Formats: sequence, C-alpha cells, structure tokens
Amino acid sequence: MVLVAPSLLSADFGDLKGQIAQAEQAGADWIHLDVMDGHFVPNFTIGPPVIRSVRKLTKLPLDAHLMIEEPDRYLEVFREAGADSITVHFETCPHLHRTVHKIKSLGARVGVCINPATPETFLSEIIKDVDMVLVMTVNPGFGGQSFIPSSIEKIRRTAAMIRESNPQALLEVDGGIDETTTPSVVGAGANVLVSGSYIFGSGNIPRAIATLRAKSRPV
Ligand code: DX5
Ligand code: ZN
Repeated sequence: MVLVAPSLLSADFGDLKGQIAQAEQAGADWIHLDVMDGHFVPNFTIGPPVIRSVRKLTKLPLDAHLMIEEPDRYLEVFREAGADSITVHFETCPHLHRTVHKIKSLGARVGVCINPATPETFLSEIIKDVDMVLVMTVNPGFGGQSFIPSSIEKIRRTAAMIRESNPQALLEVDGGIDETTTPSVVGAGANVLVSGSYIFGSGNIPRAIATLRAKSRPV
C-alpha cells in the first residue's frame, strides 16, 4: 500500500480550501506541509497559523515537514496546530534521540529526514525509534526541482535498513516525484510519496493523483 501526500507548497495559496478539497476527493492520503525558516533552507513558507487553518479544512492526516533550525523549540506548537506527523531533519538535531522521543510524547507520528548528502547509515542508532524515514530526493527548499537519480539506490538501502531494524516504519520520499520517478522510487521501497508541483501544477489535481497511484502499482 503506497500513500500519496500532496505537498501544499505548490498549491494556490489563495484557494487552499478548494485545492485541499480537490486533493481529498481525489483520494489523497495525507496533506504534506512544508515549513521553512529562511535559515536551514533558503526559503520561507508556512507556519503554525496556516497549519491551524488547514486543520479545519480537512480530516486527512497532516504531515508536517520541518525544514527549520532548532525544531525542538516549536514541536508543541506544531502539534497543537494540528500536525499528525512531525518530521525533523537529521541535520538540524544535535540531540536527535531526545527530539524523536519528545515528538512521540506529544502523540504524533515521528519522522526523521535526511538530505541528499546525508548517508542513511547515520540513522542506524535511531531507526528503531521512528515511525517514518523521509529520504529527500532533491535538496530541500523549493518545489519543482529535478529528482536526484542517485536517490534510487539510497532509497533501496534505506528500505533494507527499515526491514532489518523496524519493519513497521514508513519510507517517505520528497522532491521531484511525478509519473516518471514514481515507479522507480516505489520499486526501491518507498511507500509514502510526497508530490507538490506535479499534482498542483498539473491543472488537473484528481488526474495527477490517480496517475501517481496507478504508477505506484507493481506492473
Ligand atoms: C521541498 C519540499 C517538498 C516540495 C516538493 O523542500 O520538502 O515537499 O513541495 O516539491 P516537488 O514535488 O515539486 O518536487
Ligand atoms: Zn516536504
């Protein structure tokens, strides 16, 4: 079972209500929310007030991807705003074990994310404690970037680590996920697909979601 998580980063922010409704009706599984602070990544996006509003617009689980420095300072705020999953970057967490357990104590699904240049082996000590690993397949910060091809082997290696140490954990991928990259990432072991520009830039949200679903089935 592969989950589809449309990323609102590429949605029309003037019509979040309409765009979320379309994604929900088309069978999206989660809504992915990209939080950026202009420090860890060179861009700003949404924060807790927008998440609070989105929470009122949908019953779908909200998947918060925190691309921010010192995420520990804001975990309660994001949970209270309505995030069901909270994913932090390995690169921003010097005390990752503490951060992971803090997120768990808030009752949220906990994810840990690695940038393209971060080896998945850095997660070996924490993998058994997480609900999800997010492998970035672009450098975080912007929608619409090209998928990094070497990610496929990294996803495969991460999937093997998950099978070995924590088979319940989900493997999410984010960046450049579209109809051409989906079969390879799913084939390599990804089971949560984040997709922004492909879904919201397509001009036909339901068709894009249906295509990702069809492409994630084994042939
Ligand atoms: C990038 C974000 C992504 C972004 C993906 O830093 O984490 O979630 O929305 O956008 P696409 O699908 O356009 O690559
Ligand atoms: Zn993201």
